[in-house]
Amino acid sequence: MKLKDKVAIITGGGRGLGRSVALAFGRQGAKIVLAARGKGEIDQLAEQLRALRKDAIAVPTDISDEDQVNHLIERTLEAYGTVDILVNNAGARGPIGPIHNTSLSDWERALRVNLTSAFLCSKAVLPTMMGKKEGKIIIVATTMTLRPNLTPYMVAKAGLIHFAKQLSRELKEYNIQVNVIHPGVMDTRMQEEIRTAGTQAIGTDMFERLKEEGILQSPDEPAKLILFLASTAADGINGEYLSFDDKAVKSLIFQT
Ligand SMILES: NC(=O)c1ccc[n+]([C@@H]2O[C@H](COP(=O)([O-])OP(=O)(O)OC[C@H]3O[C@@H](n4cnc5c(N)ncnc54)[C@H](OP(=O)(O)O)[C@@H]3O)[C@@H](O)[C@H]2O)c1
Repeated sequence: MKLKDKVAIITGGGRGLGRSVALAFGRQGAKIVLAARGKGEIDQLAEQLRALRKDAIAVPTDISDEDQVNHLIERTLEAYGTVDILVNNAGARGPIGPIHNTSLSDWERALRVNLTSAFLCSKAVLPTMMGKKEGKIIIVATTMTLRPNLTPYMVAKAGLIHFAKQLSRELKEYNIQVNVIHPGVMDTRMQEEIRTAGTQAIGTDMFERLKEEGILQSPDEPAKLILFLASTAADGINGEYLSFDDKAVKSLIFQT
């Protein structure tokens, strides 16, 4: 088992990509901590994992709130005594529309949920990881392809890429690897929301690009890349932005 007894926090762990990651990590022996705002999905998945004789807890958390993030880490340490892996996966698409119609509060909220959250979660796990000189942080960003009318979300995600690279350098001496991925276009609720927002709100461009990029994939596929990055097989990979649209990156998952 590739993650035997490793303690992994997965934000946005109740559905979509986070759910796929939790199931993949569970199969590889990890102890899972699921975080999301809604209690229902993470409770249900934690129960499902425990029914499969995996260790799992659910901690309702808004990752844009520092106190709630600190509580998430406290609960993790209380339950499992340490933390080895952080998957900064939770995200929200934010406002759709042109910048001149975007309110300051919508802009700030999009940055807080998608970018500041990674700062808060990383900061909270670092004392434990630095203390043991070991850790893996995997951040879920998105494509660098331009997506007009999704600017707050895309800017926050671009910030995540640089955040991961900066952090990887700061933490190199502590044997903590930080990497950031684009998971590709996945058939999840977020994708459904973007599609149902309609071409009027988002422009036909986006839909044409989605078609060009091929059919929507199951989140189980990019979850394999996250599993690879969380495993010791990826110890030599640090500060990289890996796109699951890239064939060479896809081939990495066969190394797990
Ligand atoms: N789907 C795609 O095609 C695609 C493409 C590129 C990148 N991504 C990225 O992949 C990641 C996973 O997305 P997905 O498609 O799986 O989306 P999803 O199905 O909508 O899941 C998002 C998860 O994030 C949680 N979440 C949202 N806001 C939160 C907050 N403030 N605090 C804590 N949890 C929060 C949600 O739970 P609650 O609502 O209960 O909080 C949910 O568990 C995201 O970072 C997304 O930006 C997705």
